[in-house]
Amino acid sequence: MRVLGIESSCDETGVALYDTEAGLLAHALFSQVALHAEYGGVVPELASRDHIRRLVPLTREVLKVSGRCFSDVDAIAYTQGPGLAGALLTGCAFATGLASALDVPVLPVHHLEGHLLSPMLAPDPPEFPFIALLVSGGHTQLLRVAGIGRYELLGETLDDAAGEAFDKTAKLLGLAYPGGAALSILARQGSPGRFTLPRPLRDSGDFCFSFAGLKTAARTLICAEDATGKAVAEEEKAVFRADVARAFQEAVVEVLTRKALAAMRACGVYRLVVAGGVGANWALRQSLTLAVEGEFGENGGRVHYPELEFCTDNGAMIAFAGAMRFLHGAPPQKAGAFSARPRWDLREA
Ligand code: KG4
Ligand code: ZN
Repeated sequence: MRVLGIESSCDETGVALYDTEAGLLAHALFSQVALHAEYGGVVPELASRDHIRRLVPLTREVLKVSGRCFSDVDAIAYTQGPGLAGALLTGCAFATGLASALDVPVLPVHHLEGHLLSPMLAPDPPEFPFIALLVSGGHTQLLRVAGIGRYELLGETLDDAAGEAFDKTAKLLGLAYPGGAALSILARQGSPGRFTLPRPLRDSGDFCFSFAGLKTAARTLICAEDATGKAVAEEEKAVFRADVARAFQEAVVEVLTRKALAAMRACGVYRLVVAGGVGANWALRQSLTLAVEGEFGENGGRVHYPELEFCTDNGAMIAFAGAMRFLHGAPPQKAGAFSARPRWDLREA
């Protein structure tokens, strides 16, 4: 069975073709980062309009690269939610219209389920059950995953998502939107330990997170430096910014590592899957791998990451999640009336 996957929930248009026998045949992505950069964040209306422009050429590209044609598509999976309403609607409408024309069923997919299952696209996929740490621009969650569609939410952020905190702090440091990846590059040059920022909820004894205060603490540190009014050499300013980036990243990474390990301990599950854009962060990867192998190595403990290109939003994870749902008995829907679900709890998926 070949599933065409369509992702359009935010600022990336992704299309992919997944074959349940042969694996991923092709995928294509267009990132709108440059389009939104001058506004310092995603402009929903611009995002929707750009998805409309990209969906057809990306689909043609995927078919061409895979050497397939429309008649080889057996079903179309699309991100139904959560995400920006207008952006989601473009993907829903495109997928439903194309499915109707091809007379194939549609498979509505939850965006986070796509992220959650994305490490299974890697050559050495994790087995169930596993603990999933989902760290994206909009979500920070710890889940116990027993199988396809069997997701138990252990805890989530009470305010900002980890990626959101990265982006907001990056902005304070003068880095361009979306900033998370740029902040992590800057942090590489920073000195560990020059500044220490709070570790919110680190010892709360549950699996909840809070990152809004951390971003405020970073802002206070930056403002205090600005307020000294000292004439500081550019070089010194650059060192200061790198050290703040390092301190911020260290705080986020420590909290995420501590809670992920606590979840593994509590559930007696020693496989950890890290998904979502922040999963691309080098310091988080280093810290989780070290901690999990150190504590659970003897019990086969391991961390699984999606391949870097599938950490952030993409069509492959949507095609894959749709295919998995189909194989596990979710009834494919006849293409017809459609709706986006901008707010959608994964437990209801
Ligand atoms: O999963 P994703 O592509 O989109 C959502 O579903 O939200 O995640 C995007 C988020 C952004 O906040 C971005 O800044 C962050 O992931 N991100 C990173 C890194 N790469 C992307 N954050 C920290 N370090 C990175 N290397
Ligand atoms: Zn995402």
